[in-house]
Amino acid sequence: MKALITGITGQDGSYLTEFLLGKGYEVYGLIRRSSSFNTERIDHIYKDPHENTKLKLVYSDLTDGSNLHSLLNGINPDEVYNLGAQSHVRVSFDQPIYTANVDALGTLRILEAIRSMKKPAKFYQASSSEMYGQVAETPQTEKTPFYPRSPYGCSKVYAFWQTINYREAYNIFACNGILFNHESPRRGETFVTRKITRAAARIKLGLQDKLYLGNLEAKRDWGFAGDYVEAMWLMMQQKKSDDFVIATGQTHSVKEFLDEVFSYLEMDWEKYVEIDSRYYRPAEVDMLLGDASKAKKVLGWEPKVDFRELARLMADADMKIAKNEKIIVDHQGE
Ligand code: NAP
Ligand code: GDD
Repeated sequence: MKALITGITGQDGSYLTEFLLGKGYEVYGLIRRSSSFNTERIDHIYKDPHENTKLKLVYSDLTDGSNLHSLLNGINPDEVYNLGAQSHVRVSFDQPIYTANVDALGTLRILEAIRSMKKPAKFYQASSSEMYGQVAETPQTEKTPFYPRSPYGCSKVYAFWQTINYREAYNIFACNGILFNHESPRRGETFVTRKITRAAARIKLGLQDKLYLGNLEAKRDWGFAGDYVEAMWLMMQQKKSDDFVIATGQTHSVKEFLDEVFSYLEMDWEKYVEIDSRYYRPAEVDMLLGDASKAKKVLGWEPKVDFRELARLMADADMKIAKNEKIIVDHQGE
C-alpha cells in the first residue's frame, strides 16, 4: 500500500508516518522548501536505514495546484491523508486569506488532483472540533451544527463540506476525521499545552522566570496525538467513507492543565503565570467536549492516554529538553 501525507513535518504527520510504516506502507510526504531545517519531527525515521527506503519526501505546497496534480498522478497513492494546514487559530486572525488559501482551497486542490487520477485515491481530511466554535450543544457529535469562530474554523468548515461533496458528486472515498485537540511532546511550542510544559520545565530548572498566557478559562477535550492517528487509518479501512468525531469525552480548562503540570513538577503556577492580552483572540471558543461513540462503535477506536497521563508525559519530555539546555547554559557560564 502507498500513502501520501500532506503536513508530514507536523505533529500528526510524524506519528502517522510511524504508524503507516509499521503497517508496511510505502509513505510519500509532501514537504515545503524552507531556509532552515523543518524535518525535525521525522528525521529519526528518515535516518533509520530500515525505514528510509519506504519513506520518500517530495517538495510541494497546498497552494500549488498544478504541482499537486502532477505529483498525485505520478505517485498514484492508494490513500491520501491531508494533514497540511496553517493550523494555528490565533495566527489565522492575522493571516485570514493565507489560512483560507491553504486550509480551504488547498483541500479543494488535493480533491481535484484526486479526481483526475485514473484510480482515485482514498482521501482523509483533517477536520477539526474548532468547526463547532460557539457550540450549539454539548457534547458535540457528528450531527452537531457548526458555528466557527475564526478564519481557521471557517476554512475547515469549507474543506469539510468539499470533502463530502466529492464523496457524493464523484463517488470518491473521502472521509472527515473531526478531531478534538490532541497533543504530545511533538506539539508545536506555541499551542497552549506545549507552551505550558516547555515553560514549566524551564522554570523548574531556573532557565525562565515567567510564563505569559491569555484566556485561562477556555476548556478543551485534550487527547494524545499518537492515539488519534490510528483513528485516521481506521476510517480509511472502512467499506464506505464517512465522518467521525475523535475525542476523549472529557473537558478541562487551561487552568486545570496548569495545575496538573506545575503540581507534578512540585511548583505553584500562580507564582509564575502572568496574563498578556496579546494571547487573547478576537473571538474565542469557550468550551469543546466531544462524543466519540460512533467511532467507538464503528471503528472500535478508544483513546488510551488520559488527561493526567498526557500532561505528565509532556512534562517529562520537556524536562529532558530543559536539562540539556541547562547543561549548555552552565557550560557557557564556566
Ligand atoms: P502542525 O503540527 O501545525 O502541522 C501542520 C503541517 O502542515 C506541517 O507539516 C506544515 O509544514 C504543513 N503546512 C503548513 N502550510 C502548508 C502549505 N501551504 N502547504 C503544505 N503543507 C503546509 O499541525 P498538527 O497538529 O499536526 O495538525 C495536523 C492537521 O490536523 C492540521 O490540518 C490541523 O489543522 C488539523 N487538526 C489538528 C488538531 C490538533 O489538535 N492537533 C485537531 C484537529 C485538526 P511546515 O512544517 O513546513 O510548517
Ligand atoms: N496558543 C495559546 N497560547 N492559547 C492560549 C494561550 C496562549 O498563550 N493562553 C490561553 N490560550 C487558550 C486559547 O485562547 C484557546 O482557548 C486554548 O488555550 C487552546 O489554544 P491552542 O492550544 O492554541 O489550541 P486551539 O484549541 O485554539 O486549536 C487547536 O485545536 C484545534 C482543535 O479544536 C489547534 O491544534 C487547531 O489546529 C485544531 O484544529
